[in-house]
Amino acid sequence: MPREWDARTYDSLPLPHLYWGRKTLGRLTLTGAETVLDAGCGTGRDTSALLDLLPDGRVIALDGSAAMLAQLRARLADRLDRVEVIQADLLEPLPVHTPVDAVVSVAAFHWLPDHDTVFRNLAAVMRPEAQLAFECGGQGNVASIVHALDEVLPSAPRVWNFAGVDDTTRRLLDAGFTDVEVTLTPDPARFEQVEQFRTCLGTVVLGAHLDRLPHGERADFVDAVAARLPEPVVDYVRLQVRATRSGD
Ligand SMILES: C[S@@+](CC[C@H](N)C(=O)[O-])C[C@H]1O[C@@H](n2cnc3c(N)ncnc32)[C@H](O)[C@@H]1O
Repeated sequence: MPREWDARTYDSLPLPHLYWGRKTLGRLTLTGAETVLDAGCGTGRDTSALLDLLPDGRVIALDGSAAMLAQLRARLADRLDRVEVIQADLLEPLPVHTPVDAVVSVAAFHWLPDHDTVFRNLAAVMRPEAQLAFECGGQGNVASIVHALDEVLPSAPRVWNFAGVDDTTRRLLDAGFTDVEVTLTPDPARFEQVEQFRTCLGTVVLGAHLDRLPHGERADFVDAVAARLPEPVVDYVRLQVRATRSGD
């Protein structure tokens, strides 16, 4: 199963993920009665927005982290009758047994090393003509942080998969999608409070690196990376995708 997240701290941060989510949901054409899979749903911000768009529909909220899903259940406590919550790994065949009308995903797929497998797993649970809309970190994402990491810890593992336009297009076509549209857009996020910037680094960006360090070394590691960055900015570059599951 994928790694755990600090879900409460994640939800307390002023992250651009909220805005990315609204943009990604805006790429779906919905009547309001569909079943939509939120893949890597996290604490459920987009699941909640989807429920608003689907008065007669349902959301399948899928994530690998039990802590994120617990936070989602608390957020949506009064609406869980229209939500199926599934803890699962997107790199494994998905335990979704009725084909869905659409899939959305926000800020999740760059954590997955094998996009061919992810796209095939999604295609397998989508009905013909179902819509896919996702965004994640793409080629060039957080380049200044990658550079700082290389200085602080040259042996740091490559935990991200920042894919490009051509690779992603080919992978989606191979997995059975058509009408594929892929763009890469720089979208830097500036933090007004330095402490929130450090918390964002520790909780979101560098979380997978900190997991590998003893607790006592984590704050110094974040400080060392932050000290090498010229300003409290995460230089995000987003891969934005829309596609259609081909008819069988
Ligand atoms: C940055 S969070 C984004 C959460 C949410 N979509 C949002 O925009 O706030 C990334 C999410 O991807 C999930 N994730 C990462 N790898 C995963 C995997 N292999 N299978 C399922 N979920 C995974 C994490 O547990 C986490 O909740």
